[in-house]
Amino acid sequence: ITEDSIEKDLTGKKVLITAGPTIETIDPVRYLTNRSSGKMGYSLAEAASLRGADVTLISTDVGLAVPNGVRHIKIESAQDMFEAVKNNMEQDIIIKAAAVADYTPVETYDQKLKKQDGDLTITLKRTQDILKYIGEHKASQFVVGFAAETEHVEKYARGKLIKKNADVIVANNVGDKSIGFKSNDNAVTMYFKDGTQVDIPKQSKLNIAHEILSHVKEKGFK
Ligand code: CTP
Ligand code: CA
Repeated sequence: ITEDSIEKDLTGKKVLITAGPTIETIDPVRYLTNRSSGKMGYSLAEAASLRGADVTLISTDVGLAVPNGVRHIKIESAQDMFEAVKNNMEQDIIIKAAAVADYTPVETYDQKLKKQDGDLTITLKRTQDILKYIGEHKASQFVVGFAAETEHVEKYARGKLIKKNADVIVANNVGDKSIGFKSNDNAVTMYFKDGTQVDIPKQSKLNIAHEILSHVKEKGFK
């Protein structure tokens, strides 16, 4: 597929995408994060932009180039991502590909923590569930959630679909080392609210992104 041959089937549509891990600060030199590379979310941003959408991408600096024409909002923490999403809710499609931290330190230290003789305990508190917030406050937006699972993929993904009031959950089996996270390839299953499912076999994350967008377009969103 060349850039010129791509059908601009998302022209005029506003698409918000969150991607990659969040960064939860402990002190000026330390943080908590996860193994997400951001590649799936950046590929979605690239695919949507190539198809003519007006794309806003919210992510930490994951070291990937922001795709052409995409508006990037750089954030660090789950809380930052939440605020950025809240301020950009007017969309046709919202895609939550980000691996948001579930917990963040209760306290962040202004100065570097010095080591002591004994063990260190860091207390963590729950972050805001951004997708759940979107599900509770959406109007006509088509909401796409992701689910990272290592087992019971369908059961957990369908549970998230209901709990977060999403229109579809895209499930990744992150236990499979040949796909997901740092890999350029992925394989996913989409679980839609109407009970149907679509399996997208292993291929590049950019091709997976195009497939996801096509199924979203076909399913619900006009
Ligand atoms: N998500 C979110 N805000 C959070 C945590 C998750 O918006 N604080 C979103 C993710 O972006 C993803 C979906 O919720 O689209 C599912 O994330 P996942 O980590 O798989 O599920 P959780 O609900 O966090 O449950 P668990 O990690 O226990 O499986
Ligand atoms: Ca989680």
